[in-house]
Amino acid sequence: MIKIVVLISGNGTNLQTIINQINTGEINAEIAAVISNRANAYGLERARKAGIATEVLEHGDFASREAFDQSLAKLIDRYQPDLVALAGFMRILSDAFVLHYHNKLLNIHPSLLPKYRGLNTHQRALEAGDKQHGASVHFVIPELDAGTVIIHGVVPVMADDTVETLAHRVHCIEHIIYPKAIKWLAESDLKFENDRLTLHGKALTEPVKVYLPAHLEL
Ligand code: GAR
Repeated sequence: MIKIVVLISGNGTNLQTIINQINTGEINAEIAAVISNRANAYGLERARKAGIATEVLEHGDFASREAFDQSLAKLIDRYQPDLVALAGFMRILSDAFVLHYHNKLLNIHPSLLPKYRGLNTHQRALEAGDKQHGASVHFVIPELDAGTVIIHGVVPVMADDTVETLAHRVHCIEHIIYPKAIKWLAESDLKFENDRLTLHGKALTEPVKVYLPAHLEL
């Protein structure tokens, strides 16, 4: 069984879906700890309710990004995770941190990468008139939101969408694709070796595409 440390900054709905799927036995993994850079992140409450260890490391208490990241890595490493999953962790990570977790650091990002790295992805998709938008589960490399993508979760953009309605739809697909990618990794169905992804033993040359089920398209 793999051990996961989840890093959050906020609500933690992605964390919740991972917790739920572990609890139902869908994902064969254990969350060893949930770590937040904000003491008031609601995701911490979700973790406590699930009986998971929580830690808070406030970035404001550190003089530099590097100092924060070093302490964060020390804290994470106490739990000896096989996988570190960023789930709404709103911090840019230093190169040293990212390289320390080479091939073990996973992120969910609210766009169809390589489109819209960084912030305000829903707004940018609406402004561009995109017909499709979504989320990506990807390995993290030092360049922001640029690592190998495992899954694209694709949602339609509706004519009357606002940032809020579109964000809601993207969240729905995130809750499908993040647990799926973690399940694949936990069961060694998915491997990332020498910068090559294989799924069920076959090379994955482009992200797996998962579409939102019609009943969630509201
Ligand atoms: C998610 O939409 C995730 O894609 C995004 O934060 C949200 C967290 O929601 N992450 C990023 O923007 C990272 N750059 P949650 O706290 O409800 O899981």
